[in-house]
Order: sequence, then C-alpha cells, then structure tokens
Amino acid sequence: MAENIYDNGNGGQKTVLTLSEFIIKRQEDFPYAKGELSRLLNSIGLAAKIVNREVNKAGLVDILGEHGTTNIQGETQKKLDVFANEQFIDAIRYRGECCAIASEENDDLIIFDEALAKKAQYVICMDPLDGSSNIDVNVSIGTIFSIYRRKSVDCMPTIDDLLQPGTEQVAAGYVVYGTSTMMVITTGNGVNGFTLDPSIGEFCLSHPNMKIPRTGPIYSINQGYFHDFVDGVKSYVNYCQMHDKPTRRPYALRYIGSLVADFHRNMIKGGIYIYPTTSDSPKGKLRLLYECNPLAFIAEQAGGKASDGYKRIMELKPESLHQREPLFIGSYDMVAKAEEFLQVYKDMEAGIVIP
Ligand code: AHG
Ligand code: MN
Ligand code: MN
Repeated sequence: MAENIYDNGNGGQKTVLTLSEFIIKRQEDFPYAKGELSRLLNSIGLAAKIVNREVNKAGLVDILGEHGTTNIQGETQKKLDVFANEQFIDAIRYRGECCAIASEENDDLIIFDEALAKKAQYVICMDPLDGSSNIDVNVSIGTIFSIYRRKSVDCMPTIDDLLQPGTEQVAAGYVVYGTSTMMVITTGNGVNGFTLDPSIGEFCLSHPNMKIPRTGPIYSINQGYFHDFVDGVKSYVNYCQMHDKPTRRPYALRYIGSLVADFHRNMIKGGIYIYPTTSDSPKGKLRLLYECNPLAFIAEQAGGKASDGYKRIMELKPESLHQREPLFIGSYDMVAKAEEFLQVYKDMEAGIVIP
C-alpha cells in the first residue's frame, strides 16, 4: 500500500503534497520549459476536476445518454464525451502553452490561432473520455493524455507536430473517475499518482513512485472475440488459463471495458491488458496517439512493458491522427511472455520452426 503522505525533506516532517506543488518541485526536471509544462499539467488537472464533477452527477442531470452525433470512428458520441472534450480544450486553449490538440472526438487537428497560443511549444493528444460505453451503467471511466514538444518553428503547427513517435513524449497521464478520482502522471522520471480529495478540491500525492509488479495474477482481454483472435493470442489465452502454481496460473480474467480502469487495476495489482487484432478489426481497436502511447509511457516508467505484440509501442511511427494499433500492456514478464507466443506462431507461418 502506498504511503499517503510525502516526505518534504524537512527533518522527517510529513505533509500533504498537492499536484500543483509536486509539479513545481518537478519543474527543475525541465529547465528549458520555463514553467509551461507545469502550467499545462495544472490546466489538465483543472479540467479533470470539472469533468469529475459532471461524471459524479451524471445520474442526476440530463447529461447522461447519447448525444446523437458520431465521431470519426463512426461511434455514437455520448454527451459526456462532448462535454469532456470541450472542458479539456477550453482549459488548455487560452493559456498559451499548447498550440494544437489531437482529440478522439475531433476528426481533424485542432489548431489554436489565439495570439498567445501561436508561439506555444507544446501539442497534446487526448482521449477526453475513455470507456464511454460505461457511463450509462455507473462504471469507472477515464481520460488519457500525452504531451509533446512541437517540431515546427515560427509557423502554425502542422499535423507532423502530432505524428511523433511515443518516445518523444515529454509527459503523459490518465485520470480514472472511479470509487475515488485519481490522476496518474509521468514526466519521464517515474510515475506518480494523485487522489482527488473532494473536501479541498485538490489532487494529493497518494501513490508516489508507482511500480507495476513484474508479474501478476490478472489477464484482461475481451474474450468474447476469442474465435476472431490470431492463433498466437488464442494460445496465450489458453496459457493464462492453465494450472501452474509457480506462475500463479490460472490467472483471473478481469475486463471492465474501460481501458483506463483496466490498465490502472493492473498497474496496482500486476497483470496484462490485451486488445489484439481481430478478424473484424485487423489493426485492433485502440488508438496509437491518445490511448496506446500515453499508457505505454506510463507502463515503461513504472517498470512495465507495452507492445503491439511484436514491437515496442513507443517506437511505432504514427501516420495518421486516429491510427489504431493492437496493444499488449502491463507487467513486464507477462507482456514478454505474450510476445513469445506471437513470435512462435509468426515463425511457424514463415516456416522457420516446426512445432
Ligand atoms: P472510448 O470510450 O474512448 O471509445 O474507448 C473504448 C475502448 C477502451 O476504453 C476499452 O478498453 C475498449 O474500447 C473496449 O472495447 P470492447 O468493447 O471491444 O472490448
Ligand atoms: Mn478510449
Ligand atoms: Mn473516448
């Protein structure tokens, strides 16, 4: 269990550390940023609090249910998707740190043309509301974001500023709106989790220096699609179900259907989350820029691993804003084992290995 207090380095005296205070302390990691990155993370924290307020009263007001429009993936948008998207954009737009956003809910790149934003050094990729099919049934949902330094200089930002590999991320995080609301962030120097204390309206450091257990007792996959998986994934799922005491198998199957919540649980308890290719979705379902990459950055910073089954997620070169990729993420040894299964079948198909 993580310590719920932070050593302020003052003779062992302990005190609560808010997200804002923590970010100011971490500012020394980014001397070149002159505080912009800190302010950006604060803006995201503010928007998360506003979204949290609406999520909490979703059953009380007419914000629940379908909005009637569809996003670029042809999925029906819920009202809270739209609301969350607007909140994050508004919180970031007028502050002057970010010049463009790629959002799941917008087909095209959002470019800020406000005078302040034009010179901004950062761009953001975000899934403002993840797990939206769970809104109507009062189950945990989330937000995922990723921050990059722009590549372009002295001009309007372009799509190439957003199409950077995940290795270029300077910060990433997620918010899980669960039994409590938590924001988990990395700036490339470990992972820290902050729990929202509603009585003071602040995210407070509750999970310092988070680490994913090297292995765990959980696998998370939508097994309803089992017959649509490739043989390597089917075989790995069978492996998860076999009895073997030393590796704690059979693993428990836990699948919420909210990526953030499934990933967060596995971060804490140890486990693997898989959204593989299926015959209907040959590239998988999850989006590289604003689902796979940010969580991959967090997983790696916590000692875990993120892969498309064969290659490191963060080294994939994005070609479009809403690109999908298969995702294998979580405890390092479990992801490595799943990769082994896929590789065996790949080699067999190539005639390299005779079973
Ligand atoms: P979103 O709500 O942002 O569209 O994301 C939904 C994603 C992800 O959160 C979840 O893990 C996955 O869809 C579930 O998909 P299946 O219902 O196909 O398992
Ligand atoms: Mn999502
Ligand atoms: Mn979403």
